[in-house]
Amino acid sequence: MKTILKILLPFLSFLIFSCSTEKLDSPFELISPNSELRAIVNLDEEGIPFYSLIFNGTIIVDKSRLGMNTNKFLLLDQFEVINVSRTSKNEDWNQVWGEQKVIQNNYNELELTLTCAPKNNKMILRFRLFDDGLGFRYEIPKQSKVSEFTIIDELTEFNLSEDSESWWIPAYAYRRYEFLYANTLISEISRDKYSELVENLTGDRIGPEAVQTPFTIQREDGITITIHEANLTNYSSMTLKATGTKKLECDLFPWSDGTKVKTSSPMQTPWRTIIVGKNPSEIVMSTLTLNLNEPNKLSNTSWINPGKYIGVWWEMIGTNQSTWGSGPNHGAKTDKVLEYIDFGSKHGFDGVLVEGWNKGWDQNWCCNGEGEDFGFYHPHPDFDYEFVRDYAKKKNIRIVGHHETGTQIENYENQLDSAFAYCQKNGIRVVKTGYVNDGVQNIKRTGSDGKIYKEWHHGQYMVEHFRKVLETAAKYEVSIVVHEPIKDTGLRRTYPNMVSREGAKGQEFNGFMSEKDNNKPDHTTILPFTRLVSSPMDYTPGIFNLTGYRYFSPDNRKINLDHHIPSTISKELAHYVIIYAPIQMAADLPENYEGHPAFQFIKDVPTDWEISICLNGEIGEYITMVRKDINSNDWYLGSITNEDERNLEISLSFLQPDKEYFANIYKDPNLGGWKKKPEEVIIETISVNSKTNLNITLQPGGGQAIKFYLES
Ligand code: NOJ
Ligand code: CA
Repeated sequence: MKTILKILLPFLSFLIFSCSTEKLDSPFELISPNSELRAIVNLDEEGIPFYSLIFNGTIIVDKSRLGMNTNKFLLLDQFEVINVSRTSKNEDWNQVWGEQKVIQNNYNELELTLTCAPKNNKMILRFRLFDDGLGFRYEIPKQSKVSEFTIIDELTEFNLSEDSESWWIPAYAYRRYEFLYANTLISEISRDKYSELVENLTGDRIGPEAVQTPFTIQREDGITITIHEANLTNYSSMTLKATGTKKLECDLFPWSDGTKVKTSSPMQTPWRTIIVGKNPSEIVMSTLTLNLNEPNKLSNTSWINPGKYIGVWWEMIGTNQSTWGSGPNHGAKTDKVLEYIDFGSKHGFDGVLVEGWNKGWDQNWCCNGEGEDFGFYHPHPDFDYEFVRDYAKKKNIRIVGHHETGTQIENYENQLDSAFAYCQKNGIRVVKTGYVNDGVQNIKRTGSDGKIYKEWHHGQYMVEHFRKVLETAAKYEVSIVVHEPIKDTGLRRTYPNMVSREGAKGQEFNGFMSEKDNNKPDHTTILPFTRLVSSPMDYTPGIFNLTGYRYFSPDNRKINLDHHIPSTISKELAHYVIIYAPIQMAADLPENYEGHPAFQFIKDVPTDWEISICLNGEIGEYITMVRKDINSNDWYLGSITNEDERNLEISLSFLQPDKEYFANIYKDPNLGGWKKKPEEVIIETISVNSKTNLNITLQPGGGQAIKFYLES
C-alpha cells in the first residue's frame, strides 16, 4: 500500500495542482479567521511583489515591497505567479510551561509560488493570517545548478500607513538590547534622536540607523502594532532600518565580510511578523510568535521544571560587597553558598544561583573577549563544588549553574559538551549563560584562513552559536537562561529548555548604575508591550532594599547614596505577575527577605500559569495583568504605574462565579511611591468575588500585587 501511495502521490498532487481554479493574476487576498484582518498581495507591472495589511477596513500597512538579492541569483522583479495554494488550520496545543496552558493555532494560509525571469529562479511566499496578526516568509526551493549562496539583502518593507508614535531601542549599538526605550514618531528614529532623548550612544557609529525588534507602534486610533520575527534559525536577526519616513525596511545584521546570510537551497527565512491589536493589551496577549514556531522537539521534558531561585548575585552587581573573582570578598565561597541553600530550602525555593564559582574571573574578563579563558567545569578553589552539591541535594535545592563567556565564543564552544555533561553529572538542571561584550562589532571568530574576524552580537554567527548551546544543553537535560542573548523569536516552543533570557535592560542596571542612569519608573510599563511581547524575561525582580543599598566598593563599605531604585516593594512584587518567566529570581539578599511580611508574596507566586489576561494598559503608563496558577484555583494580580499616581477600577469577573475568595493585597501606603516611603508596604486581606469591582490606587512609580484564593 505504502509503495503504491509513493508512486501515486506525485501524480495526485499534480492533479490537485492542475485542478486549482484560483487565477494566477494578482491581487491575492487572504482573510483572518475572524475576518478582521485582510492581507493583499500584488505584483506590479515590473513583476515586483508587494503586500499590504488592512484591519477592520483601515489600511495599517501600505503597499510594502518583498524580495531578495543573493550573490548567485536575483529574486527582485520580473516575477510571475505559477501556483496559488491555500490552507487553513485550527488546532489547540499544550505548552510544557508558560503564560497559558492551551494555545489556539488558528490561521488561513496563502502560498504563492513565483518564478522570476530570465533564469526561472523560484521563490515561495507563504502568508499566514491569524486573528492577532500576519506572518510571512520566503522559501527558496532547490535552484537549478545552485546550492550554496549568500543573501546580500532582504528587501522586505514595512510601510506603515501612519507616522505613529513608536517605542524602540537602537540597533547597532554597543549594549545590545540593554537600553531604555525611546518614544518618538516612526519618522524620527535615529541615533541622534536617541542620544538627545534617552542616552548618549557611545562607541563607533557603524551600521545604519535602525531599531531592534519587537518594535511597537500605536496609531492615533489606538490600533497597536508590533513588528518582530518568529523562528530565527540559520539566519541573521532582523532590525528595522529607518528611512526618515513612516516606512521601515528589513535590515539584517551582516557578517564581517558584509554579506547578510550564508545559506544553501532549499531554505526558508524566519517569519516576518506584524502583530495587531485594537489596543496595547491585545498585543500583550498575542500567541502568534509561538504559533509560527515548530512543535516541541524534545521527547522527554520531565526534567524541565519551572520554579524560583535566589543566588549569590546581587551582592556583587547590586550591593557591591562581593566580587566574582578571587580575593577576600569573593562571593562564591562554600560557606556562603551553604547559607543561601539553607535559606532557599527553608522558604521553598527550587534553586540557588552561584556566580563566580568557576575559573576565569580574575583577569579582564569583560568586555572585549581578551581576558583569561573561562573554565566551565573548573570550580574555583574557594568553592567545594562536590560538598555543596551533596548538601544542596539533602536540602532539596538545585544549584543553578553559570556560564559567563565574556563572548569568548570559541573557548565556550570547545568546552560545550564537557560543560553540560558536568552539569548533568552534578545535578545542575538550569544554567544561566552570559555574553558580556560592550563593544559594537566585536565578537572574535577565527576564519578558515586562520585570521581573526569581528562579528556582530546578533548576526548569523551568533544566532547559530546560541542554537548550538541550546541543543547541547537539551542533550544533557539542562535548561538555559541566557543573558546578553539573541532575541526571543518563540523557539521555546520547539525547545522548551529555552526557559528564559534577558535581552532588555534588567534590574542589574539598578544595581551598578546611579539614579541618574538606572531604569526609570516607566521602564517596566513599556517592556510588556515591546520586549515582553516575545516573553519570557529574566528581569530578576524582587529587590526590597531600594535605597541606601550599595557600597562604594567591596573594600569601602560606605553607602553610596547616588543609588536609588525607582520602584517600591509593592511594584517589585507586581513584577512577578507582569514580567513572565518560568524560572524567576528573588534577586535581593536573604537578609532583606528574612522576617519581612511582603516576602510571603514571592514565596506564594507561581511561575507556571493556566491562564493569563492583560486587563488594561497604556504603553509607558500602566498595566494590570492577572494570571491563574496551573496547579490550583489561585489567581494573582500585578498592577504597575509610571511616575504618575493612578486609580484603576478592576472588575474581578475572571474569578470563578459564585465563589468567595480572600484577596491578600500588597500595596503602597498613601502618599507613598518610589520617592516617598518606597520600602513601606500595606498588607491587608479582604473578601471578594467575581462581581467585585476593586479600586486600586497606584502611587507614583509604585504598584500593587494581589493573591486571590478560595475562602473554603
Ligand atoms: C551580565 C549579566 O546580565 C549579569 O546578570 C551577570 O551577573 C554578569 N553579566 C556577569 O556574568
Ligand atoms: Ca546583562
